[in-house]
Amino acid sequence: MALPTQYVPSQTRYDNMTYRKCGHSGVFLPAISLGLWQNFGGADVFETGRSILRYAFDQGITHIDLANNYGPPYGSAEENFGKVLATDFKPFRDELFISSKAGWDMWPGPYGGIGSSKKYLIASCDQSLQRMGLDYVDVFYSHRVDPNTPIEETMGALTQLHRQGKALYVGISSYSPKLTRKAAEILSRENVPLFIHQPSYSMFNRWIENGLLDTLEELGTGCIGFSPLAQGLLTKKYLNGVPEGARATKSPSFRQDWLTDNNVSVIRKLTEIAERRGQSLAQMAIAWVLKDPRVTSALIGARTVEQLADSLDSLKYLTFTSDELKEIDSLQLDGDINIWSGSSDL
Ligand SMILES: NC(=O)c1ccc[n+]([C@@H]2O[C@H](COP(=O)([O-])OP(=O)(O)OC[C@H]3O[C@@H](n4cnc5c(N)ncnc54)[C@H](OP(=O)(O)O)[C@@H]3O)[C@@H](O)[C@H]2O)c1
Repeated sequence: MALPTQYVPSQTRYDNMTYRKCGHSGVFLPAISLGLWQNFGGADVFETGRSILRYAFDQGITHIDLANNYGPPYGSAEENFGKVLATDFKPFRDELFISSKAGWDMWPGPYGGIGSSKKYLIASCDQSLQRMGLDYVDVFYSHRVDPNTPIEETMGALTQLHRQGKALYVGISSYSPKLTRKAAEILSRENVPLFIHQPSYSMFNRWIENGLLDTLEELGTGCIGFSPLAQGLLTKKYLNGVPEGARATKSPSFRQDWLTDNNVSVIRKLTEIAERRGQSLAQMAIAWVLKDPRVTSALIGARTVEQLADSLDSLKYLTFTSDELKEIDSLQLDGDINIWSGSSDL
């Protein structure tokens, strides 16, 4: 169905979303934020992405997360988001909190993603602003620790973007607790607060419970956990094989060898627990991430409006009994299904 040409946002958009304070800052983020890593690129149907974005805003999702290389092709998610900003969200820029990042591969040659040099981060932020048609992003992240770039140089780039007003706040992604502390210390010498950390976090990937959450609480830094559905594994879609169109069929980031008999039976048991709670597994997985108040926001993805609507309903029931938590903890996966966890300490 074609979307109405003129977008008029819902008058009730702030009625059902909860907002959580991001660390010691004055910023509140929605408990659920939307990331455009997959499904919003040039290879996807633009109008589908646009309808998901409109729906998200109508439901109070004010925070949209991007990175330079989201697509495919690289840059195209930012370009598409820029189009939606221009056509639909232009009057609402100040109701939106938009992030971008640099750190992984982006353009050819030694300055486009081999590391996290100042050269790369500054140029990449300028490119991201241009693609989205923005004067500034609300947050700019160092997307990863680069063992070949001194952390002082990477934090120097974030400091410069902050001073120039190209990034109102700065963040880091997937840094170990030790390097998070170091990053915060370097930034604080320049009077730049470490606003937020973006780590992976889900029932299937709990590395942040081993020190990172404590560190962030101590530093007064917010935490936005990405991939709370473990890229779709924590839904019931893989219980009877791999459905057409699912991420497992499309993206190398999802490894089909995660779908062992034991792992599928763990997902089945989790589905049963969720059903007893009156939730879908996706809803329970998001609620599980949000049960810790130190998690500012759950950063989800969505391929359709229906998926997003289902995921948002997690906010209706966020508490867990200790028996439910014990039962969840007792389920053991085969090996490690994570492709992201914290960096090494260098
Ligand atoms: N900082 C980093 O290094 C980093 C890395 C990765 C991601 N991120 C951020 O985190 C965001 C989210 O990552 P993600 O997409 O992996 O998150 P996710 O929420 O774990 O997975 C999203 C995927 O799960 C499926 N899904 C979503 N809702 C569903 C529902 N209610 N029922 C059934 N299936 C559902 C869809 O996959 P199908 O297509 O299979 O249906 C969807 O694309 C990214 O967009 C990005 O902003 C950051």
